[in-house]
This record gives sequence, structure tokens and C-alpha cells, in this order.
Amino acid sequence: MRNKVEWRNGKVAEIRQVAEDVRYIGFAVDGPVPRFDPGSHSNIAVEIDGAAANRTYTVIPAPPGQIAVAVKLHPQSRGGSRYMWSLHEGQEVRLTLPENRFELSWRAKHYLLLAGGIGITPIYGMAKALVARGASVRVVYAARSRGLMAFANELEALLGDRLILRDNSQGQHIDLDAEFAALPGDAECYLCGPIGMLEAAKAAWTASGRPVSRLRYEVFGDSGLFAEKPFSVEVLNRGTRVAVRSDQSLLDALIGAGVEMIHDCRRGECGLCAVQVMGDGVEIDHRDVFFSAEEKAEGHKMCACVSRLTEGHAVIDVGYRN
Ligand code: FES
Repeated sequence: MRNKVEWRNGKVAEIRQVAEDVRYIGFAVDGPVPRFDPGSHSNIAVEIDGAAANRTYTVIPAPPGQIAVAVKLHPQSRGGSRYMWSLHEGQEVRLTLPENRFELSWRAKHYLLLAGGIGITPIYGMAKALVARGASVRVVYAARSRGLMAFANELEALLGDRLILRDNSQGQHIDLDAEFAALPGDAECYLCGPIGMLEAAKAAWTASGRPVSRLRYEVFGDSGLFAEKPFSVEVLNRGTRVAVRSDQSLLDALIGAGVEMIHDCRRGECGLCAVQVMGDGVEIDHRDVFFSAEEKAEGHKMCACVSRLTEGHAVIDVGYRN
């Protein structure tokens, strides 16, 4: 695991379509690329509406000297995926060496890997690494249709009948209760998918009586329960009114309006960007994994990097922890 973020220059070496809405993008990187664990992430410098920004992507298996990511084009993109899809071979980029935030323990006798949609990116790397080590592994991968399943062919070749594909358009879904019931006692489960899938898995895992530490997960920050709509906020004691577009995060809108915000992960994990929502009557689409289910139900705190108001207007306190 790397502790220091190290930026490098790179060039787009390969682009290929790996699902209807997902592109593999490989970067040849200046200097040696250290070995990295599956589930690692790199930051990539992007340009959104002419302004510099960083976006974090899971790195996937790539040829030596390269770092590769798989990027889903979001119709409601905040700009990151649109920029990544605009890249062409030979284009120069700045990116960081991978660092791990979603680590495999390597200690379990059996691994169940669950992926929902673009959540396949860390699961794909984990499956390859586990198979290479001869580990016992089963992968269950669900998406809205077969055409949207990136790396499904590679995984089929790798795993054979240890891969289960669940095509939602055919009425197929992951049976979490059955999957967990079939696991040996010391198994571990790794999950990456939308927040709804994670919440369901956490509930089923707890109901199965298994240790919480053996369910590990990551969600992607744009996976709410509601479609993105514009909303607005007023910053308490500052009188600043900020309009948030549907393709923009609250964090970016606040920073763009000159509001000083502490932040780090931009993935709803660290909680540094949390704000307090004053009053009642507004609904929050919680997309973070930082706050507990109870805190989310209270409806007064949210991570500005990923969570949003479903619509409307609220007064927020950006310094409630000071
Ligand atoms: S920046 Fe980490 S939760 Fe928002």
C-alpha cells in the first residue's frame, strides 16, 4: 500500500470498448510503475468546463509499465467521464501511481466477489489475482443487461462456472441471502456496486450472523436512489446562495462559489466534506458510506462530494464540526 501520492506524466497507449458504455483506457507512464494490489486507485487530472480537476478511478490489470482504468460514460456526468471519453491515443495526461483503499486480505479460504455494474472494476482485478494464487473464488456480477457487462468474456474464460452473470433485463438479480448462506464459515465477501446493493448486502450479511469485518465493500459515488436534479443551498451565517446543477456535486458548486471546504477522497468515504442540513422538509439522496444508517435516517448530515438534495432548497452549515 502506498501512503504518498506521486504524480507522473503519462500518455494514452490504448483505448478499447469493453461494454456498450465502458471504455478501457491504458496509459504508458513515465518511469517505473511499482507493483500494485487489485482494488487500487489512481487520480487522473481532468478538465471540466475548462477548469482543472482530479478524478479517482480503480486501476485494472494492465501491461507492465502501464496503468489502466475502465470508465463508464455517465449520461449525467459531472464532467469526469465525458473528459475521459474524449481522450485519444497519444494524448498526454497527469496521473498518480496507484494506492490501495480496498484491499484483499489474502487470508480467507474462500472469497465471494460481488459486482454491480461498473463496480466490476476492482472485482475484475481481484478475481484475476485470486485465480493466479489458486484461491477458492466465486464471482457474481449483475448489470442492467449483458451488453453493459464490462470484462464478462474475460471473466468467463478465467472462471468458467465460478462466474455467475445476472442480467437484470432478463429478470435476474443477485440472491444475496442464498449466496451468503452457501458460504463456508471463514469466507470473505468483497462487494463493489451501487449504494442500494451495498445496503441490501450489509443487511443480509448481518442477518446471516457473519462477522462484519469479513464483508468489505466500496461503492461508486454517483449511485444514488434518485435521479440527479438541480437544487440550491444557502450557507449559514454567510448569506451565500449556491445553485447546484444536476451534473455537478455540491462540493464542486460550493468551491466554485468561493466557499472554503475541506475534502479528500471525493468518494463519500472520509467524511471531511460533511455539511449539516438545517431544518426539515428536504430529502437527501445519501450516496456516502461515511455516515451510519441512523445518521442518514435523521437527515441532517451529508457528504457534499457525493450526496445531494433530491431537489429544492436548504440552509447548510459547512462548519458545524468547528
Ligand atoms: S471528500 Fe471524503 S467524504 Fe467527501
